[in-house]
Amino acid sequence: MRKEYGLEKIEKLASNENPFGSSPKVKEAIEKELGQLTIYPDGHAPLLREKVARHLGVPGDRLIFGNGSDEVLHMVSRTFLEPGTNTIMPSPSFSQYKRNSVIDGAEVREVPLDSRGRHDLEKMLSLIDGNTRVIWLCNPNNPTGVYINKDD
Ligand SMILES: Cc1ncc(COP(=O)(O)O)c(C=O)c1O
Repeated sequence: MRKEYGLEKIEKLASNENPFGSSPKVKEAIEKELGQLTIYPDGHAPLLREKVARHLGVPGDRLIFGNGSDEVLHMVSRTFLEPGTNTIMPSPSFSQYKRNSVIDGAEVREVPLDSRGRHDLEKMLSLIDGNTRVIWLCNPNNPTGVYINKDD
């Protein structure tokens, strides 16, 4: 995009990135692990699971960990969607909902946002049937669906 539009600096507002940088604690924790990069982490994340379970007051087996929520969305889609099922999502919304659903062969039922960029929950509800497996809700929605005209 930088090249396409000849821009020097871009402030990205659509990707949930933190323009202020990460917490110094994150940097510290990553630096501490640099000596162990050749070792596989335990995908079950037992230490993290135990701590988060304690913090939230829920059993550890009720938690799912992924490499970012992108991976969790992928897991949801792979688990529940297949040919013969359908899935309902707002449109436009986060691109990974549709991408994963299409890969898994589900029928995608897209519901346009209303004129204020809100999910049309009534319409989404009306599309549910016996083959609906996943309903994607995005809050705050990304993209917002409300576009600011630079001339306004
Ligand atoms: C709505 C939404 N869900 C999920 C993600 C993925 O985020 P991450 O994998 O960093 O948790 C993003 C990233 O922009 C997002 O906007």
